[in-house]
Amino acid sequence: MSDGRTAPPHTGVEIAGSGSALPEHRLTNAELESLMDTSDEWILQRTGIRERRRHDTSTPYPTSDLGTAALENALDDAGMHAEGLGLVLCATMTPDSPTPAVSCRIAANLGLRTTGAIDLNAACSGFVFAVSTAHAMIASGLYDSIAVVGVDTVTRHCDYSTFGRGAAILFGDGAGAVILKKTNDTAKGMLAQAMHANGNGAKSLYIPCGLDQVEDPESHQAEDGSGVDPRLNDKIQMNGKGVFKFAVSKFPEVIQETLDLAGLTADRVDHYVCHQANARILEAARERFGLPESKLRVNIDRLGNTVAGSCPIVYDELKRESLLEPGQKVMFIAFGAGLTWGASLWQI
Ligand code: COA
Repeated sequence: MSDGRTAPPHTGVEIAGSGSALPEHRLTNAELESLMDTSDEWILQRTGIRERRRHDTSTPYPTSDLGTAALENALDDAGMHAEGLGLVLCATMTPDSPTPAVSCRIAANLGLRTTGAIDLNAACSGFVFAVSTAHAMIASGLYDSIAVVGVDTVTRHCDYSTFGRGAAILFGDGAGAVILKKTNDTAKGMLAQAMHANGNGAKSLYIPCGLDQVEDPESHQAEDGSGVDPRLNDKIQMNGKGVFKFAVSKFPEVIQETLDLAGLTADRVDHYVCHQANARILEAARERFGLPESKLRVNIDRLGNTVAGSCPIVYDELKRESLLEPGQKVMFIAFGAGLTWGASLWQI
């Protein structure tokens, strides 16, 4: 390919280990019923979600704490010490604070003092974009080993009242991580990838930092006439129907695009590791490509939408259940705020 979207053939890159971490607290649909006007039936029918996890709200740094725990598990799985990492690349849209980067805190928590650390924000597509980026950095010879972490704690930006119920029911907190390493086995690595964004869709899914960032302020006025409703500030805003439409069209489109780049048909891929946003969206994609249920894992019923955490958590579940075999093809696929959408196809 002349546009650089496929990997150079001379360097192998392996996914040497994976790990994940979830908060203890299970925020069930029944608990949501006690906080807002909603029902288990409504949530389950429209999204497939039964429960999601919520971080310990007394912790000041929940995103980096969860990311650290996931990465520790991934290092264990890879049989590696943190000192062996060349770079920590963390995908997140919910840093503990605007600065420092979550990756810096994660690296420090692991005892690293000089290892490079970068955050990447592509919302729910973050892990997919990050894993392709890390592959390019290893394949080009810059690094031998990179930790890629996907972590988010969006429940910090959810309004758990009837006012905010449209978005709040969807999200959960969680983290996943993989260790990418250079290998002499050139069959291993990324076969093709696609990264897309359309910033014109920003207002479909966003978190306003201040009421002056609220889109369409006229339709969000406070009842007392004081201006934009203050309950919107710092809380996730979503045009559910608009995002649904976007996802249903882009999700299969980017799968097909990535298959075409690799010259493969859908049946040649062993696992579709998909962002978990809505069970109906996943089911539509599965049917469209005629995939058996075993090739497209759904865990949204247990975890909700964990944003950048969702793809690496799915991957880690498959790994822990011994469902991944050397030589298999795995496609990571995601879409989300930005708007962004992308896929990364690997031979593992
Ligand atoms: N509980 C009960 N009722 C709710 C509710 C909730 N949590 N949230 C909204 N409603 C109500 C609405 O107020 C509305 O009532 P009305 O008809 O009296 O006005 C009704 O249910 C329908 O709301 P609507 O938003 O049109 O529902 P929907 O069928 O579009 O489903 C989503 C909502 C969010 C489940 C769906 O749009 C969706 O999944 N979108 C994609 C979201 C997504 O994937 N986001 C992440 C991308 S990474």
